[in-house]
Amino acid sequence: MSEQFDVVVIGGGPGGYIAAIRAAQLGFKTACIDDWTRKDGKPAPGGTCTNVGCIPSKALLQSSENFEHAGHSFAEHGIGVTGLSMDVAKMLARKDKVVAQNNDGILFLFKKNKVSYFNGVGSFTGKDGEQWQLAVAGAKPAQIATKHVIVATGSKPRMLPGVTADNVRILDNEGALAIPAVPKKLGVVGAGVIGLEMGSVWRRLGAQVTVLEALPTFLGIVDTAIAKEAQKQFTKQGLAIHTGVKITEVKPGRSDVQVTYTDSAGKEQKDTYDHLIVSIGRVAYTGGLGADKVGLALDARGFVTVDDECRTNLPNVWAIGDVVRGPMLAHKAEEEGVAVAERIAGQHGHVDFNTVPWVIYTAPEIAWVGKTEQQLKDEGVDYRAGSFPFTANGRARAMGETAGLVKILADRKTDRILGMHVIGPMASELIAE
Ligand code: FAD
Ligand code: NAI
Repeated sequence: MSEQFDVVVIGGGPGGYIAAIRAAQLGFKTACIDDWTRKDGKPAPGGTCTNVGCIPSKALLQSSENFEHAGHSFAEHGIGVTGLSMDVAKMLARKDKVVAQNNDGILFLFKKNKVSYFNGVGSFTGKDGEQWQLAVAGAKPAQIATKHVIVATGSKPRMLPGVTADNVRILDNEGALAIPAVPKKLGVVGAGVIGLEMGSVWRRLGAQVTVLEALPTFLGIVDTAIAKEAQKQFTKQGLAIHTGVKITEVKPGRSDVQVTYTDSAGKEQKDTYDHLIVSIGRVAYTGGLGADKVGLALDARGFVTVDDECRTNLPNVWAIGDVVRGPMLAHKAEEEGVAVAERIAGQHGHVDFNTVPWVIYTAPEIAWVGKTEQQLKDEGVDYRAGSFPFTANGRARAMGETAGLVKILADRKTDRILGMHVIGPMASELIAE
C-alpha cells in the first residue's frame, strides 16, 4: 500500500530540503527522500553542500585562515605567538561536528514543518492516473504515490578520463576535505572554485601546492581585471599556478601520485605529489532515479531538461538545483526550490540568474554578480567601468588587508549597474550590498 503525498522531493540538498519545507509551509502534504548517511549510519540530509561541499570547505577555510593569521598577521598588531601548532585531526573533527550540526538542524526543520523524511534512494516506478509512483530503497523500503515530484538529485564530481578517485592519493572534493595530515606536496588539477579554495586551505597549513589548469587563461569566468589581481595575490602567497597544461598520465603509487603533463610551451613535465585533488567541474547526477522508466528527458550533457520555470517534459514533475542548467550554487538551488513550491501553489516564484552572486572564499575573497567587462564587450553593450583599490581604503588599512579592488560596470546612458566585481577583504559580505 502506497503512502500518499501532494509533493515529493527526491534529493535533500539545499535545493531539495528548502523546496520541501516551502511546499509544506504552503499547506501541501510533503515528503523528502534523500540517500545520504553519515559514517556512523545516521541520516545526513543536506546533500553535497552540507556534507562534502560548502559547509565543510568553509569550516576548513576558517580554521586554516585562523592559523595563517596567528602565524603571519598577528605580529604586526603587537600580538606575540610562541609555540604555534596545527592539530589537523582536531581541525577535521571540528569540521565533522559542524556538518553533523547542520544535518541535525535540517532534520529538526523537517519535523517542525511536518515534512516526512525518507532516508534511501528514491526512484520513479510508474504512474497511476495523475499519481506518480515512487519507490524508496534503503534500510526502510517504502512505496509512495504523489501528484507532484521535484527532482533535486544534485551533482557529482567529474573525473579525468581513465582516472578513479580512491580518496587516498587521488582525491575528489570528499577526499580533499579529509586529508589526514598536511601534505608536503599537493597537486591540484583545475584552477576553478574548488581547486583554489582547497589549494588555499592546504597551502596555509604548510603544503607546497601546484595547480594545473587546462585553459590558457586563469579564472576565465571572472572579470579579467579581478582574475589578474587574483593570480598575482595567489602566486605571491605561494600557490604555483600553471595554465595551458594537458594532463597525459596520472599514476597513483603507495605513498604518492605521479602526474605527467604537457606544459603551455608543449614540453613534457613530470611531478610527484603526496595527494592529487581533481577538481575539474561537476556533472548532473541522475543515477538511481529511474528517469528512463518514465521517460524523463535529459539533455546531451546529462542534465534534466527544464524550461525557464523548472518544468520537465513530464506533467507535474519539476527539477531544480545542480541537476539542471545554470550555476551550480547552493543559493541558486534554494531559490529554484522556493520558486517551484510557490508555482505548485499557483503563485509566481521567480529566479533571475543576473542577480545570483558568486563568491570564491579564498583570501582575498572574490565575489561578483552580473556581467563581466569581457561579456559586455562581446555583447556590444555601451558601458562605463569604474574601479577603486582597497589600498586607498581606510578600513582595509586598519584591517591590514589592502590587496584587491572593487570594480563596477554600469550602462553608460542610464547608470544601471550591470556588473559588480570585488576581490578583497569581506568581498562575500560586500557583494550583497
Ligand atoms: P546536492 O547538494 O548535490 O544534493 C542532492 C542530494 O540528493 C544528495 O544528498 C544526493 O545524495 C541525493 N540524491 C541523489 N539521487 C538521489 C536519489 N535517487 N534518491 C535519493 N537521494 C538522492 N555552493 C555555494 O553556493 N557556496 C559554496 O561555498 C559552495 N562550496 C562548495 C564546495 C565544494 C567542495 C563543492 C563540491 C560544492 C560547493 N558548492 C557551493 C556548490 C553546492 O554544493 C551545490 O551547488 C549544491 O549542493 C547544489 O544543491 P542541490 O540540492 O541541487 O544538490
Ligand atoms: P570549476 O568549473 O569551478 O573549475 C574547473 C576548472 O578545471 C576550470 O578552470 C577548467 O578549465 C579546469 N579543467 C577542466 N578540465 C581540466 C583538465 N582536464 N585538466 C586541467 N584543468 C581542467 O569546477 P570545480 O572547481 O570542480 O567546482 C565545481 C562547481 O562547484 C563550481 O563550478 C561551483 O559551481 C561549485 N562550487 C562553488 C563554490 C563557491 O560557491 N564558493 C566552492 C566550490 C565549488
